[in-house]
Amino acid sequence: MGSPFDAPLTKGLLVAGPFDKLTISSANTMKILSIETSCDETAMAVVVAKGGLRKPRFKVLKNIVSSQIEVHRPYGGVFPMLAKREHIKNLPIVLNDLKLSEKNMKEIDVIAVTVGPGLEPALWTGINFSKELANKVKKPLLGANHLEGHLYSPLLTLKELDKNARLPAVGLIVSGGHTILLVLKKIDEWKKIGETRDDAVGEAYDKVARMLGMPYPGGPEIEKVAKNGNPSAIHFPRPMIHHKNYDFSFSGLKTAVLYDIRDKKLTKKVRADVAASFQQAAIDVLVTKTMHAVEEYSAKSIFLGGGVAANSLLRKTLKKKAVEKRLELHVSEMKYSGDNAAMIAVAAYINHLKGKKLRITAQANLNL
Ligand code: KG4
Ligand code: ZN
Repeated sequence: MGSPFDAPLTKGLLVAGPFDKLTISSANTMKILSIETSCDETAMAVVVAKGGLRKPRFKVLKNIVSSQIEVHRPYGGVFPMLAKREHIKNLPIVLNDLKLSEKNMKEIDVIAVTVGPGLEPALWTGINFSKELANKVKKPLLGANHLEGHLYSPLLTLKELDKNARLPAVGLIVSGGHTILLVLKKIDEWKKIGETRDDAVGEAYDKVARMLGMPYPGGPEIEKVAKNGNPSAIHFPRPMIHHKNYDFSFSGLKTAVLYDIRDKKLTKKVRADVAASFQQAAIDVLVTKTMHAVEEYSAKSIFLGGGVAANSLLRKTLKKKAVEKRLELHVSEMKYSGDNAAMIAVAAYINHLKGKKLRITAQANLNL
């Protein structure tokens, strides 16, 4: 099918009419076409969701992520207007790459789109595209919270969630914009218990990488270079690690790195030691606070999601702690750690079943 951009863009148009009512089968099965454009990835997925809130299960039929990293890299970060331009260009291409026949499109029950948080111009491209598409193919449209997507991303690969065995759970969301700890009493019932007061952990990785002359995004670069470094070479601060709350602060750690390297010649060895020591400090804080929350809330499992969840030291350290405490660690598969649309389908499904409706408008500062 053609792109909704073939038609004139009717900004602000709301999906209305007979298809704004979404009825789902008694088996709670939904085939979802999901769209994500909150930052620098243009992503779409087709996901079959079933099992309801008791035993949610997901099958990802299609999952395409078109990354803009190469476009933003020369600038050392993501430029919102550049991201918007790239999303507008890429959305019809990605839709086309899904290769949905008319029959396939008929079988879609609902379209889901990220409404926030994220870069406002980037969010609008996905929202406008989804509205046009939903109107064109006469499907209902659901809004989804990107953070709930990260939170629920481990569900994409869990065969079955046995509620009784694994909940309550502690959830840790670690991305470029957020660092959040929460407690899930039920899969659709969570309470945020802490978040960063300044920089997100991914942001700290990106900024430290930049100081060390590494390209954007810095997380994977730091991780790579740190493999050859000594994590005990420099004792960086572990901000708020012993505070009696679940908030984080990473800006002091970043500044400590800045001061440490001020008078140093950045040889390969120095860069590796700084990267490894910084990473160790950041992960010590994340893991310690997560495990405190596990104790306090008697959690039976841990959910880990977000771009930084791709970090192997974080995964390994949390896994070790989880095994020690006989907990399950539910971590998003690598391909679902960073931004993707499959997780948006999961968030939309769970929210829909719990009866929560998000406004279909860009909500740049939406939180949990
Ligand atoms: O979730 P995400 O893709 O986008 C946001 O919602 O922000 O997260 C991106 C962040 C970036 O800061 C990136 O540097 C970080 O995740 N990241 C990593 C790794 N891979 C990506 N940080 C540490 N280690 C990694 N392997
Ligand atoms: Zn994200």
